[in-house]
Amino acid sequence: MVNVKKVRIALTKGRIEKEAVNMFQRAHIDCSAIMNKGRKLIFHDYKDNIDFVLVKAQDVLTYIEHGVVDMGIVGKDTLLEQNKNFYEVLDLGFGRCKFSLAGPKNSNFYSGYNRKKVATKYPNVARNYFRKLGQDVEIIKIEGSVELAPILGLSDAIVDIVETGNTLRENGLVIYKDICSISARMVVNVASMKMKKSEIQTIIDRVQIQVNTRGKVLS
Ligand code: PRP
Repeated sequence: MVNVKKVRIALTKGRIEKEAVNMFQRAHIDCSAIMNKGRKLIFHDYKDNIDFVLVKAQDVLTYIEHGVVDMGIVGKDTLLEQNKNFYEVLDLGFGRCKFSLAGPKNSNFYSGYNRKKVATKYPNVARNYFRKLGQDVEIIKIEGSVELAPILGLSDAIVDIVETGNTLRENGLVIYKDICSISARMVVNVASMKMKKSEIQTIIDRVQIQVNTRGKVLS
């Protein structure tokens, strides 16, 4: 253990947390303590000298870019939204969902000449999408429950994550266009990739084997 440098890994709290823990467990990297975590935020795997920290999705890349965390598990949605510097090394294949443009069932987003309003938690994703289409829209940033915006008349449509589609359905909204697919990714700090090359590569390799095996089982 003396020569093994400590690696700190940020796990996104919430939706993808359990699958990330299961993935590390299958790779024989012990973070099982997270399953009974209570309010604790930092966990240590003594065998492999790894610190696991639980952070919000929006903060994973901030810790990584500042170099206080070496690696992270975070959704592609967050990577697309934040313009940060990091290496994306693995598509982990879980946390699958998509970005979609959606709105009220009986209205036509593409008709009329008025500048449309689009509410979203992901203004950069939405802006890039409409810029590529050459469509001039007003983007309105919302922090959550974006589906409310067109219902209350704040916007004509939303750009949001769709997983099961239940939230859209239960609020009378439909998908107008799918934008792109999303899944959980493994990311690495640029300097750590050089300074802790062997430790980080070992973790990537062990997880990669699990991702490959799992992919075959599921397909
Ligand atoms: C996300 C997303 C949708 C919902 C989609 O919100 O913004 O509202 O999940 O999932 P579904 O297609 O399975 O219904 P989240 O639950 O993260 O909460 P928020 O709306 O408060 O941000």
